[in-house]
Amino acid sequence: MRSTLTSTTRHCLLPLLCLCSALSAQAQNTFQRPGDAVEYRQAGFELMGTHFRRLNAMAQGKVAYDAKAVEDNMAVIAALSKLPFTAFVPGSDKVKGTEALPEVWSQPAKFQEAADKFQAEVGKLQAAVKGGKPEEVKVAAGAVGQSCKACHDSFKQKGH
Ligand code: HEC
Repeated sequence: MRSTLTSTTRHCLLPLLCLCSALSAQAQNTFQRPGDAVEYRQAGFELMGTHFRRLNAMAQGKVAYDAKAVEDNMAVIAALSKLPFTAFVPGSDKVKGTEALPEVWSQPAKFQEAADKFQAEVGKLQAAVKGGKPEEVKVAAGAVGQSCKACHDSFKQKGH
């Protein structure tokens, strides 16, 4: 799996990524009930969202920029960014409490495209964080935020 990591992430993220890849492979096989998959993806989004808000507050200048804190939040976001997407399993569209719209399952290619766009923007944000220029981090974080919103607009219930 080493070869699948970019040089940007290898240095500081290897332990966390190994853990999360293992969890992600496991996730695809071990949801006992569709409700477990919903809980898993919601928890993943929630945590990723928390760390993205922290990073973005610094990126947008609302909170003093702390390069180390930005890097730490970035590591968590990168590690979590793929996990929720392993949990949109068949049958989990019908679970009470999910905010996922039926379009996730009826338009899988479009959903995948939105997820891929998001992953690409996360990759650019990682590169910007590594580059250490706050103004580039600001732009890249803005683009990540847009990609979250773009997917939510089409695939997540509003008002949550
Ligand atoms: C490709 C689609 C997609 C992308 C990209 C995406 N999300 Fe979501 N997100 C969803 C869907 C669908 C749900 C609803 C999940 C459910 O309730 O089953 C969701 C739910 C959430 C939730 C609510 C979790 C809960 O507790 O119920 C948060 C918070 C969230 N997303 C934050 C983010 C943030 C922040 C980003 C970007 C950094 C992001 N999402 C990117 C599709 C996406």
